[in-house]
Formats: sequence, C-alpha cells, structure tokens
Amino acid sequence: RSLSYICYETSLSGQASKYTNTIMIVPRAPLHVLSPLDLSVTQLSFVFTSLVVYWIFKRYEPSSPLSLSVLLLAVPGLYACLLISHQLGVVYSVFVSYAAHWCLLVLFTIAYRVSPFHPLASYPGPPPARISKFWLVWIVSQGKEYLYLHDMHRRYGDIVRIGPNELSIRHSHAVLPVLGAKGLNKGSFYTARQLLNGVNSLLSISDPVEHAVRRRPWNRAMNTVALKNYEAIVRSKVEELIRGLLRAQAEIIDISAWMSYFGYDFMGQMAFGTDFGMLKTGSDNQGVWRLMEKGTLAFSLMSHVPWSGKWIARLPLGSNPVGMLRQIAWDNVARRIQQGSPHRDLFHHLMDEDGMEPIKPSMPIVLSDGVLAIIAGSDTTSTALSHLYYFLLRHPPVHNRLRQEIDSIFPSGEDPLAFGKHADMPYLGACINETLRLLPPVLDGVPRSTPSDKAAIVGPFVIPPNTTVMVQTYSLHRDPRNFHPLPDTFWPDRWLVQDQYILPSGDSIKAEELILNREAYIPFSFGPANCVGKNLALMELRAVTCAFLHKFDMTVAKGFNFDTWEENILDYGVTTRGSLPVNLKTRY
Ligand code: HEM
Repeated sequence: RSLSYICYETSLSGQASKYTNTIMIVPRAPLHVLSPLDLSVTQLSFVFTSLVVYWIFKRYEPSSPLSLSVLLLAVPGLYACLLISHQLGVVYSVFVSYAAHWCLLVLFTIAYRVSPFHPLASYPGPPPARISKFWLVWIVSQGKEYLYLHDMHRRYGDIVRIGPNELSIRHSHAVLPVLGAKGLNKGSFYTARQLLNGVNSLLSISDPVEHAVRRRPWNRAMNTVALKNYEAIVRSKVEELIRGLLRAQAEIIDISAWMSYFGYDFMGQMAFGTDFGMLKTGSDNQGVWRLMEKGTLAFSLMSHVPWSGKWIARLPLGSNPVGMLRQIAWDNVARRIQQGSPHRDLFHHLMDEDGMEPIKPSMPIVLSDGVLAIIAGSDTTSTALSHLYYFLLRHPPVHNRLRQEIDSIFPSGEDPLAFGKHADMPYLGACINETLRLLPPVLDGVPRSTPSDKAAIVGPFVIPPNTTVMVQTYSLHRDPRNFHPLPDTFWPDRWLVQDQYILPSGDSIKAEELILNREAYIPFSFGPANCVGKNLALMELRAVTCAFLHKFDMTVAKGFNFDTWEENILDYGVTTRGSLPVNLKTRY
C-alpha cells in the first residue's frame, strides 16, 4: 500500500545528507482496454462487416435514404459504440470507425474494378474510367463528352471501357444488336430521367412491353395523317419566324437564337397549345429556354449517376430546374384542358382525345410526355437548323446551290410552304443529312444495358451481363469506313445518287469509290425506341429552310470566327451552342 525509500544528497561543498521518502500506492478501477487478441478480433470483424456492406452495394445498388443511412452511418456507428465501451475516447472511436468503414468501402470497390476478375478487365480504356463513374461525370460536366469519347476510340480502338461497367462502341455492326428490335433494353441511365416523381416519360421506360404500349399514342401522333394536320401549326410558326426576322432585320441577327425561339414556340404550341411568345418578343421572355438548358445539364449528369436523380428531385422547387419545368407544364396543361385547341395537336394524341386506348392515360403521364416533347423536340430541331446555317455560311458554293434548288421549285411569288414539294428536293435533303451526320444534335450514343443474367453478342464483341453499352453516333458518323472520302468535311453530294462525284477540291471520284454506309447513320437513333418525332423534325427543317432562304439573303456578320462555332458546342445529352450573327437582306 505504501513504499518508503531513503535518499542521499551531496551538496556542492561535499557535505552528505540523508532523508526518507514515502509514496502511497492507491489501486485504480480496472480498465476495459482491449487486449491485443481482442483488438485483432475487433479489427477483423470490422473489415468483414465493411466487406459485407460493399457486397450489398455491389449486388443490390441500394439508393433509398433508409438503406444508405443504415449501411453508411449505422454500421460504423455500432463500431464506434464498441470502441467507446472499451474506453478509447469518443472522438477517437467515432473518427476511426467512420473513416475506416468508408475507406474500406472505397478500397474494395477500386480493388475489384481494376482487378483481373472484373468482367470488363480485358477491355482497354482510360485508367480513371475503370475506377469510378465520376471520371466520366466530370467529362460530361465540361460539355465535351463526344470529343473525349471520339479521342478514346482513336486511341484504344472500336471498343473502349469508359466506366466501371460501361463500354463505348464505334462499329456499325453494333447498331442492330444494341438498338434494334431484338437488341438491348434501356437501363438505369434512363430511370434518372423520370420527369415526375415516380412517373416515367416515354423516354425513360426500360421495359420493352410497357414502352410499346406507351409509344402507341406517340406513333399515332406522328403518322402521315397526323403530320398533315400539323402543317397549319408549322406554317403559322414559320410565318411568325419570318415576320420576326423582318422586324429585326436592320440589326445583326443571332440566327441561332431565332431558331431556338422557333423551336420552343412550335413545341409549346404542339405539346400544350401554349405560346411561349419568343418569336413575338424576339427573346426568351419567360426564361423557358434558359430553364430547359439548365434542365438538360441536370438530366445529363443525373443519367450517369442514377441515384442522384432521387436527391435532386427532393430539392426545393426554386433551385430545381426539373421541378420548375414540371410547374410550367402543370400551368399549361390546366389551361390547354380548359380552353381546348382548334388543332389536333400533339397534346390531342397524348391525351387520347380520340379514345383509341382501352385505358385513358393518367394526367401525370400526359404531363410527363408533354414535358418530354418540349425537351426532345425543341432544342434538337433548333440545333439542327443552326448547324445547317453555319455550314451554309461556311461553304458558299453549297449555299448557292441550295438556294438555286429552292428558287427552281418556288420561283418568286410561289409559296415556299407548299409542304408537298419539300420531300422532292434532293439537294435540300442532302444538306440536312450531311448536317445531321457531322453534328448530330444528340452527339453521343444512346445507352442500352445487358441483362443481369446474360451476356450479349454485339457485332464482333461479347458484352458481359450488367453492362451499359453506347454506340457512339458522332464517331460512327466520322469513321472513314462508313463515310468516304472526306469523312470530316461538309460535302452534301455524298447523299446524292450519281455516277461520278466532284469533290470540293475539284477532283472527281467514281461512284464505286464512294462509301456511304446508311447502317452507320443514326442521328435519330435506331430501333423501337428511336426518335418518334423524326418525320416531324424533318418537316420543320425543310419548311423553315425553304421559307427562310426563299425570303432572305444571309451573310455572316463581320468579324465572326467560324472556328468558334464548333468550339462553343456543349454536349449535355442534347447540344447547346453559341451565337451565329448574320446580316439578312430581303429577296422578294
Ligand atoms: C433534328 C431533330 C431531332 C433529333 C436529332 C432527335 C434525336 C433523337 C434521338 C437520338 C432519340 C433517342 C434518345 C434516346 O434513346 O436516348 C430521340 C428520342 C425521342 N425524340 Fe427525338 N430528335 C429530334 C426531334 C424530335 C422532335 C421534333 C420530337 C417531337 C416531339 C422528338 C421526340 C422524341 C421522343 C418522344 C423520343 C423518345 C422516343 C422513345 O423513347 O421511344 N424528337 N430523338
């Protein structure tokens, strides 16, 4: 209980002294510190638990707030409690448990993804893309995904691993097996695009049977009879465009912006019988276009990280472009239902006002598809028109030749909106095809997924189960195996049937030397989920171009640098673009 000891001390003068010291020994309460054995058992069980959590994530991809809280917060929380009970200190125990659990999860994930055991281990690709999806998300956020993937194909070949479970293909033989009727289904990429909480738009339905049912009203809305009925709407909006351009003509005009005013006003009229008023005011007066651009960026990021969609949808309306789009749609639908429409417009078919379906579509479904129509139909068409005018300005001989064709069909005084004549204008068709080849408004491939239990044979490749595949549109369209000669040059002649072709340089080639692989031409995608609005889009492109070039001489504004046009293209699923300043002079 006590310890006494004797001390001797010698002073500097050499004198010695002696004294006794006593220390009391008081026993402490016993400590529950981990023995080395306990510690290694705890550490092992900790690693094992993290491994199980990793396996659950890999196998089931949980994303609900409850399961995420349990797996990411509660599990390390339990360990922290265990450590605290062994007197290791609260801060230390919490820090160690959480940091170790999360680091272990990241470590297991990376180790598996780069290991030779991963099913995509044998496919080449950029190393960061193997490790995490966030690599591609970062590229996507820069708006240059199409160029990055094009470059990756140049470096690695026809098939590239662009994500932990994702492949990009540049091979025309992949089009049918991926996108065709017997091809692959849409995967989780699309579920993030649900436009209303819990309600799929046509675009985001993965199940092929459900998709076919939901596509029926769309097919009716885009058949020949329906398109004939839309001529009046197209005419009224094209005439409004020409009137707007006549008003603005004194100044330099951003023709790219005016194409968007047309695209949005037209689709607003078609989808909800509403007038966004952009052509009337010559501006994005209600901010719809800006909102759509924000929405497309959000959609394109969410698509790559599908679980993020659920969280973004929870954001308050003011900060959430998707929610704001919903709000605009609700307002317009309510008005359209109340006021009706003099036209059998797209909404008429989406609402099944003819009663063709056994069950009437619910309001959230109509709303969701109405918003889809505006997203899918406005920017795509106005981008295609803007690209076409950019190419015409950059290639004056093509511009002149197209105008000659238009003048020959519609001499002065003739109505350039005689729709029946548009389909018989081969050079106009060739210019549109060539524009959509070089700069398709949807630049990347559209993703499809292999089922979880079956591999797929895609052209010359075997795609393991649970893999997302994209056939890269931009790269396919610029591949000399598909389009030769001059795959990167705007040369509409390639689309015409001729015995001999004169190249822009003046040289000529024989028909046998030309390569035009139509199987590789997919600006509207391909198969049962291709663009249902293709014929409507082509009708708009022809009508606007005939009326516009018939009415105006267009020259590029002084000082405009053509190279900036392609630099300013941003790829957010749908293209966004910069301005295209022109001078217009009335012809007739
Ligand atoms: C030049 C103009 C256009 C281009 C290049 C284009 C391109 C495309 C592409 C590539 C897809 C497939 C997207 C995917 O699977 O992820 C698509 C789908 C779709 N497009 Fe278009 N589009 C255009 C105009 C239009 C127009 C005017 C409409 C009219 C509303 C429209 C409505 C749709 C719809 C509803 C889908 C989804 C089809 C489905 O999943 O079954 N598009 N479009």
